Amino acid sequence: MLKHIIKLLPTIILIFFSTLTVAKAHNHFPITTKSKIMIERGKIAYQNYCVSCHMVNLAGAENWKEMDEDGHRKAPPLNGTGHTWHHDDQTLHAIIKYGLAKLVKNYQGKMIGFEDNLSDKEIDSVLAYIKSFWPKEEYEYQINLSK
Ligand code: HEC
Repeated sequence: MLKHIIKLLPTIILIFFSTLTVAKAHNHFPITTKSKIMIERGKIAYQNYCVSCHMVNLAGAENWKEMDEDGHRKAPPLNGTGHTWHHDDQTLHAIIKYGLAKLVKNYQGKMIGFEDNLSDKEIDSVLAYIKSFWPKEEYEYQINLSK
């Protein structure tokens, strides 16, 4: 019996490591713009949940660097002209899922989370849609950041 196991050991080790590789390959980050279906799905979710603040073409609120009438920050552009591409996918996913309220202590602003409305897959799709607006350089920078 033991002899058998020893004989099989290289195979067992091989299977173990290939499972690890597969598990890594299934990690959904970085999110790319390769899937047109994903982008289309993300666009629908964006129009339902994000467009009211981040606006069409993801341009953000007018004068987004200023405060709104409540003294909160306005919605920034997500189209690559702001700083969204400085954050990796894990951070962006968390901002959308949990909102800044759960990530920043004593947060008073308006970016609430969407975990009750959007699945992880839908959040990834929104990110693919958002990234489809980014210039090549920003896109590639952020992809590397998210690996
Ligand atoms: C009620 C208005 C509102 C809605 C709706 C909203 N956001 Fe935001 N969002 C904001 C504000 C305001 C900020 C800036 C947060 C701050 O600094 O307080 C922000 C920040 C962000 C950021 C960080 C951007 C960066 O450059 O750091 C991301 C990403 C984002 N929102 C994505 C989304 C997505 C995706 C949706 C839809 C699922 C969405 N937001 C819906 C108001 C909103």
